Amino acid sequence: MCGIIGINSNKPVSSTIVNSLKKLEYRGYDSAGIATLSSGLINEVKSEGRVDNLEKNSLVQNMEGTIGIGHVRWATHGSPNSINAHPHSSQNVSVVHNGIIENSTLLKKFLVSKGHKFKSQTDTEVIVHLITENLKTDNIVNSIKKTLKSLHGSFALGIIFKDQPDLIVGARRGSPLAVGYGPNENYLGSDSYALKSMTNKITYLNDGEFCIIKKDHVEFFNEEGIKINKKVLELSSTEEKYNKGDYKHFMAKEIEEQPLTLKNGINEYVDKSNNDINIYNFPWKTNEISSVTLIGCGTAYHSCLMAKYWFEELTSLDVSVDIASEFRYRKNRFKKDSLYVFVSQSGETADTYAALDLCKQNNMKTCAVVNVIESSIARDSEFVLPIHCGTEIGVASTKAFLGQILILYIMSLKIGLWRKDINKEIFGKKLKDLKELPNLVEKTLLTDNKIQTISGTFNEAKGSMFLGRGFSYPIALEGALKLKELSYVHAEGYPAGEMKHGPLALIEEGMPVVVLAPRDNYYKKTISNMQEVIARGAKVLLITNKSKDEIVSENIWEKIEVESTNEDLLPFLLTIPLQKLAYYSALKKGYDIDKPRNLAKSVTVE
Ligand code: F6R
Repeated sequence: MCGIIGINSNKPVSSTIVNSLKKLEYRGYDSAGIATLSSGLINEVKSEGRVDNLEKNSLVQNMEGTIGIGHVRWATHGSPNSINAHPHSSQNVSVVHNGIIENSTLLKKFLVSKGHKFKSQTDTEVIVHLITENLKTDNIVNSIKKTLKSLHGSFALGIIFKDQPDLIVGARRGSPLAVGYGPNENYLGSDSYALKSMTNKITYLNDGEFCIIKKDHVEFFNEEGIKINKKVLELSSTEEKYNKGDYKHFMAKEIEEQPLTLKNGINEYVDKSNNDINIYNFPWKTNEISSVTLIGCGTAYHSCLMAKYWFEELTSLDVSVDIASEFRYRKNRFKKDSLYVFVSQSGETADTYAALDLCKQNNMKTCAVVNVIESSIARDSEFVLPIHCGTEIGVASTKAFLGQILILYIMSLKIGLWRKDINKEIFGKKLKDLKELPNLVEKTLLTDNKIQTISGTFNEAKGSMFLGRGFSYPIALEGALKLKELSYVHAEGYPAGEMKHGPLALIEEGMPVVVLAPRDNYYKKTISNMQEVIARGAKVLLITNKSKDEIVSENIWEKIEVESTNEDLLPFLLTIPLQKLAYYSALKKGYDIDKPRNLAKSVTVE
């Protein structure tokens, strides 16, 4: 992952670099660092942990230099300490890197044999020494070209040179990189978001390209070192102001915002006057499509899994779901009549992007369901359905999950109607229920105190299980993921019907088990599975929806009732108590809720 920034200006750059790094923390927060050029030397300051630590360092506050690079790290090679923090520098060259150099061990051996001394355990340091070595015989362009050719793996790089005090080099393969243009200064950044407070004029580098950034102009090169022209894009100049307001954490705010973000999503796609769904400019005829493959990672993968149930229910398409890191290396059978849907909040997830790239190379139909519309996945997909839920800061995805499943539900409904797999009457009824969803989510959000109390039991236990069947199964997986990533306790999501095939052996006296059993087609079956875990000593937290019918089961430890709606939409409501459970568990433990350990918001390494 990692975030990189570079500024070439005629004013001191250190404080602007630090401010941009704060915006890049969603890419990693293990360490931060900065390097500038002044008085013919490379100055380097690095700190373990957050950008705040770097900012407090008096060396940064007094740092000189009108040209510099900065980095926030998500550790891949070497532990997250200040020695492994970027930038990495030799006497002549300083480098920041996002990505992984797969042949770093071999390259290091070669460089050590040439007398180069290494200070860190990172893969990045080989880039520093390779450039230093190549500069002995080549000019800047040729040494960069030669260095990039020696590297296997993925990278976005920012490089400064002691003997070239007027330029920054940027280079990209696999990891995203943008160049920005300002008045008498130019920039380099992992994305346009980091540059937005400085400029809305952006050029994105493509794979294999590199650039030389001077104060007054930027030159671009292809991988052969031949100069190329690139377009300057003008992005919207409004910088979104997003803060926690009165909330303790972004995650708490993002959970509470969900009625509003769902309303925004519905307003974007649902045509109220005609009681219809508007998906404008859908580039394919629906009879050209006979199957859909949904691809994502983590929570976005759970959204894909959720969508499978809806697509199968509402359309006659064949549906498959894939984890992007698996899809990209499998021997796929690409079919002309298949639609590939890539689901991603950030739109920058490396594995999801690679899966998209693979589909494009095979001339497949590609559609992105993303939150960040300026992202690589959005830019490079044939068709984009934005989820319109606004910036999500909390590393654990909440409102983006509901946003993703909302758009996937809308998509399955509309495709079902287009293909005449559902009739207008059913479509109209489901649309009417959908419009009510934000209100029901709002009401469900009021179930609060009980969850705070319950969360303590999950923290004390060795582990917990989350069970569901049918529409509730993907939500069980998502609930377990939220709990483990926030409160660092083991939690496993499972299809309730699968317990007897092995996992039942885990159940012991007092183990907390969440059972999602809304009153849908699977209700009775799930209740039977619940009995089986209660019989073996589990403390069951039953999450169901409000109903006149009594639950015919004894010995349930706790029960939470969400609002009622049609069974397609119950997954939205079941998600709310699970998000809160994870939030309160982490809160009780005093953990960093918005930035859980070892994680990052945007996963730009594979
Ligand atoms: C978990 C979470 C992650 C992301 C995953 C994909 O709460 O947020 O599992 O869902 O890293 O990220 P995007 O959606 O940006 O592709």
